[in-house]
Amino acid sequence: MAHQLLKGKKGIIFGALDERSMAWKTALRAVEEGAEIVLSNAPIALRMGKINELSKLCNNAPVIPADATSVADLEALVQKSMEHFGGKMDFILHSIGMSPNVRKAIPYTDTNYDNFLKTLDISALSLHKVLQTCMKMDALNEWSSVVALSYIAAQRTFPGYNDMAEAKALMESIARSFGYHYGFAKKVRVNTVSQSPTITTAGSGVSGFDAFFHYADKMSPLGNASAEDCANFCLMMFSDYTRMVTMQNLFHDGGFSNTGVSQPLIEEMQQNAGI
Ligand SMILES: NC(=O)c1ccc[n+]([C@@H]2O[C@H](COP(=O)([O-])OP(=O)(O)OC[C@H]3O[C@@H](n4cnc5c(N)ncnc54)[C@H](O)[C@@H]3O)[C@@H](O)[C@H]2O)c1
Repeated sequence: MAHQLLKGKKGIIFGALDERSMAWKTALRAVEEGAEIVLSNAPIALRMGKINELSKLCNNAPVIPADATSVADLEALVQKSMEHFGGKMDFILHSIGMSPNVRKAIPYTDTNYDNFLKTLDISALSLHKVLQTCMKMDALNEWSSVVALSYIAAQRTFPGYNDMAEAKALMESIARSFGYHYGFAKKVRVNTVSQSPTITTAGSGVSGFDAFFHYADKMSPLGNASAEDCANFCLMMFSDYTRMVTMQNLFHDGGFSNTGVSQPLIEEMQQNAGI
């Protein structure tokens, strides 16, 4: 299903760890649609993950390490990417999330504040750092599109999501605020995509993820959006067909966000309760 939607466009894809990653699927589809890409991830993830395999599948896309909390790393990445492309870029996927509190199963009400600050730095401020670096280095063409992946815990409480809820709320706010400034300054668009629960390394780290996934699937009229669906949505956001969309949080969740309760879920609860 390739339409050369991104022909001639160049961009950076952050966060492809393994073949389940949303960024992995987006990288493959972006190249299928004619884009040229640079792949980036944290240095430790490059050692542990499979990004070199992905690079081969993406016309040997350069793999450039960057810890997204380090402005120096991001400046080097943007510099090298522009050298590689021979000019400015057109899109960026921010697919980065990590909470040390979630990883160590520390309850929200007993949070470790150093960890909490790391969660915010890695999962939210990193978007600001990417945008500010690109703006200062004038790295993005007019009508470029920056997309960051989010989750509905930014708006509603999902207890197992822990401090990632605050991180997503902050990230969505950064997308709105920076979208305003970058829009006026350079016509660059910034949006977040709020994706269904998806079976990936980051997703499965959330406590009770399997039940969570099943619940969302039963609640959503279209079912959960898959990682492949997410990749396709991101491509649309990178394309010129969405050039007037900016500062938005777009729900990509099969209808979950606007459903109060679904009949299949009621029936399942009736069955379980024997009523
Ligand atoms: N899986 C889900 O259920 C789900 C749902 C909605 C949104 N999201 C979001 O989608 C994004 C991608 O997650 P995924 O589900 O594909 O899982 P994933 O684990 O494959 O991707 C997360 C990525 O973040 C990278 N990362 C962590 N710390 C970093 C740092 N300091 N610098 C640079 N990169 C760093 C990891 O190396 C990894 O590649 C995340 O923002 C996540 O919160 C996931």
